Amino acid sequence: MTGLMAEPQATAPGRGPSAYILLISIVAALGGLLFGYDTAVIAGAIGFLKTHFRLDPAMQGWVASSALLGCVIGVSFAGLFSDKFGRRRTLLLAGALFFLSAIGTSLPRDVAIFVIFRILGGVGIGIASMASPMYIAEISPAHIRGRMVSLNQFAIVSGILIVYFVNYFIAGLGDAAWQTAYAWRWMFASGLIPSGIFLALLQFVPESPRWLAENGQSDKALVTLAKIDGDEHAQKEMQAIEEAIEFEKQSINAVYAPGMRGLLLLGMALAALQQVTGINVFLYYGTEIFKKAGATVNAALAETVVVGIVNLAFTVIAVYTVDKLGRKPLLIFGSIGMGACLVAIGIAAQSGHVAAWLLLFLLGYIACFAMSVGPVTWVVLSEIFPTKIRGRAMSVATFSLWTANFIVSQTFPMMDSNLSLVHLFHHAFPFYIYAGFCAVMALIVWQCLPETKGRTLEEIEMHWAK
Ligand code: BGC
Repeated sequence: MTGLMAEPQATAPGRGPSAYILLISIVAALGGLLFGYDTAVIAGAIGFLKTHFRLDPAMQGWVASSALLGCVIGVSFAGLFSDKFGRRRTLLLAGALFFLSAIGTSLPRDVAIFVIFRILGGVGIGIASMASPMYIAEISPAHIRGRMVSLNQFAIVSGILIVYFVNYFIAGLGDAAWQTAYAWRWMFASGLIPSGIFLALLQFVPESPRWLAENGQSDKALVTLAKIDGDEHAQKEMQAIEEAIEFEKQSINAVYAPGMRGLLLLGMALAALQQVTGINVFLYYGTEIFKKAGATVNAALAETVVVGIVNLAFTVIAVYTVDKLGRKPLLIFGSIGMGACLVAIGIAAQSGHVAAWLLLFLLGYIACFAMSVGPVTWVVLSEIFPTKIRGRAMSVATFSLWTANFIVSQTFPMMDSNLSLVHLFHHAFPFYIYAGFCAVMALIVWQCLPETKGRTLEEIEMHWAK
């Protein structure tokens, strides 16, 4: 079934998205919401899991991070799967895995079964992290593509924030004994609701027209393009897509040429830099950092929620500016702002004024990330590769992103406690490293990334071929 939801209306540059494109993008972005929901659900559950299964520190680490292993597995095959079987089936696979994992992680009697289903959920996160932005980029008209893909980031951050509240609510339903036995089960089971909605709504979403055209189904592609943006736009877009396919056929090597290798490297570098600039240190360890800075447990939790709210609010700025100002200015100014805030956090940590300064600069850092590096990295990754290899190329870049995430989240506690160098810097050392990577990011974007604002995916592809 391919039809949905609303009568097509044409969009022209300068006008907003039609109801149709907005609705199918929101459905695809539910994949992003589940990405956020499923990564963050563990934060509220880990304490209860620890008591219930009597976990030692090593097992605690494994239970908390096993989903990351699943993410890496998921992105490893998601690209090939999506190039072969289509974007829509890839989203369905992610939805099914989220659903299965919610059941499996809420019922287990032993920790091994829990971890197996948590890894399965991680596979879903990995797949959705690349498939949702890629699908949205491929269905969106060029002049609103950045805005539509940024919606996915908005959904990721919403998922993180929603699950904080869901966890808080569930934990409040019983006493300590009940929490240890059941609260964590309900936390994971709650994922059935968003994943069930995602699976149901995906039934109404069409396959990406670019994938259809690439796979010999141009007639179906044309129908979807017309629904998205009207007949006239559909004809033009179809012609450009077919020219790009023809070009790919004639110069099959162009897609795999050394230039493309460079492009892949650029994608991998941007993806890794989104992580090594430190975002998830603050999202995963934020509560601990606040406690160290002198906050009480409740104040630390409240500050964590404020971080989530600022993250969400400033993503809206990216949604509204990414197609007007462009990808490059947002990325460059955002990473410079993040770097400046990190240096300020480092200086505060060194001079012992931690509590007073930390929240201010940390919120500044989060705001800069949310309006630039957070959403725009995904926008760029979903649009810079040629259609023929987009799935696989995005898989490779996203693999680099999750690997970098794993390295950063594993090394932060080590850097924070073990290195003697750190004591020299009074816990400021990791922040200076992340600040250094912010400078690298600004430089690479400035020097190597072309501006893709307002250009069709086919125009971007031709740019690289030249
Ligand atoms: C990043 C995630 C991060 C999230 C939070 C995403 O763009 O890829 O690693 O947790 O933003 O805002």
